[in-house]
Amino acid sequence: MNQPPAPSPQPPARPERLVIFDTTLRDGEQAPGIALSPDDKVAIATQLARLKVDVIEAGFAASSQGDFEAIRRIAAEVHGPVIAALARTHPDDIDRAAESLASAERSRIHVFMSTSPIHMERMLNITPSEALASIIEGVSRAKTYSDDVEFSPQDATRSDPDFVIETCKAAVAAGATTINIPDTVGYSMPSEFASLIERVVREVRNGDERVIISTHCHNDLGMAVANSLAAIGAGARQIECAVNGIGERAGNTSTEEIIMAVRTRGDHFGVDVGADTTQIFETSRLVSRLTGYPVQFNKAVVGRNAFAHEAGIHQHGVLKHRETYEIMDPATVGQRSLLVLGKHSGRAAFADTLDKMGVVLEDVEFQRAFDRFKELADRKGEIGEEGLRGIIEEETGIAADVVKLVGLHLKGGDQETPVATVRVTRGDEPIEVSAEGDGMVNAAFVALQDAFGIPATLLDYRVVPYTAGADAMAEVSVIIQIGPTTYSGRGVSTDVVEGSARAFVAALNKALTARNGALASGDS
Ligand code: KIV
Ligand code: ZN
Repeated sequence: MNQPPAPSPQPPARPERLVIFDTTLRDGEQAPGIALSPDDKVAIATQLARLKVDVIEAGFAASSQGDFEAIRRIAAEVHGPVIAALARTHPDDIDRAAESLASAERSRIHVFMSTSPIHMERMLNITPSEALASIIEGVSRAKTYSDDVEFSPQDATRSDPDFVIETCKAAVAAGATTINIPDTVGYSMPSEFASLIERVVREVRNGDERVIISTHCHNDLGMAVANSLAAIGAGARQIECAVNGIGERAGNTSTEEIIMAVRTRGDHFGVDVGADTTQIFETSRLVSRLTGYPVQFNKAVVGRNAFAHEAGIHQHGVLKHRETYEIMDPATVGQRSLLVLGKHSGRAAFADTLDKMGVVLEDVEFQRAFDRFKELADRKGEIGEEGLRGIIEEETGIAADVVKLVGLHLKGGDQETPVATVRVTRGDEPIEVSAEGDGMVNAAFVALQDAFGIPATLLDYRVVPYTAGADAMAEVSVIIQIGPTTYSGRGVSTDVVEGSARAFVAALNKALTARNGALASGDS
């Protein structure tokens, strides 16, 4: 008797797609001290498109003219990802979001309303039924502009879960296709958050394949990534996140950590992302440079030490076989082996190295970066890739400089009051100012404030050496405050005071540019 044919082997289940919704330009930009110009935002959005995130939340259209303009430009100029804009449930907010997104190939309006007692009673002064009515009104209005509408019950993890379910069901009935559950204040623990997501998947999505359940976690207790990953196990298929984990207070879930966790442990999560992981390192550098937020050395995936091996046993192991101590290949996140240029390197070697680093500069920027490289290489001998990046970032960041630092002279020291004399040019006009301070860096800061005619307060000051030793090149990052606004700046040098002065000049120039812009547009 013939045997029945053996059943053909089942193809392995395809991993489900996890949507990466990047909010670097919206929640990330809400971090103190970050003030991105529309040009900066377009540059970051373009890089996010290279990273192939699925959704870019480009801003909160009704919050300012600058945000509106940045979303409008990203919608028109950046192709690939869906472009999203945030809106409260107010009709004006929704209309403004829709207007900002008008040129996008694919757009999403992200509507939010607080659902926790503390937000509704203490902040908004509304009742739960008023909140519910406003959610239905807001989502329905957004739906008239776009098929793609997302709803978030803000502070969901401190809300009554029954009310969260009620509002989310109402939002889906009004047309929302993504339901995002925010842990707005980073309060939840992974198992609790997973239970909430499981309930939302069961009762709100309820098998409807058009509806995606999403998470948006803050890092107040350091749980943002853990909570987001726990939610994937509970059925979430969109994660909201920001590059380098920046965002309100302690920040958001970090985009690069989610992408690499899911890629490295696909066996565990059963989902995959569409990201081009080789763009991760470049994206992190760009966000760090434009926001002025340094990346901590031991930051997972993108920190300087993420692939560095210090202990002899580890170095030995990695040299024998990389996987002895590395679970990810640095090349998969775009980390290259370090390139070095010396003081005898000429223009061709410099251009070749930039090419290998994937850096393209306009002629003027190239010349400026090359001149600065020669100046520093003469002092230091060799400059590694990190130092070269620092130089390029500093020199390309000053394209719109109003004031340039041309000289710095320091006097005094141990027994004498430190005095800094700075020479700057404003257009063709040279200005020289001397000032005393309680240290050399402080004296330079005071002199520069006089030269710019802007009184400022130093809020944050950091020196990060690129190499060890007395002749180390270092990057100085500062955040200054002028009135209610903060500005960041960076400087690179072999000398800490000079690097600090360059960082102050970069930050003060941003303030001056903002002030000139405000005067030109008639704002007071
Ligand atoms: O943290 C939060 O709740 C938010 C919402 C607007 C999604 O950022
Ligand atoms: Zn948030």
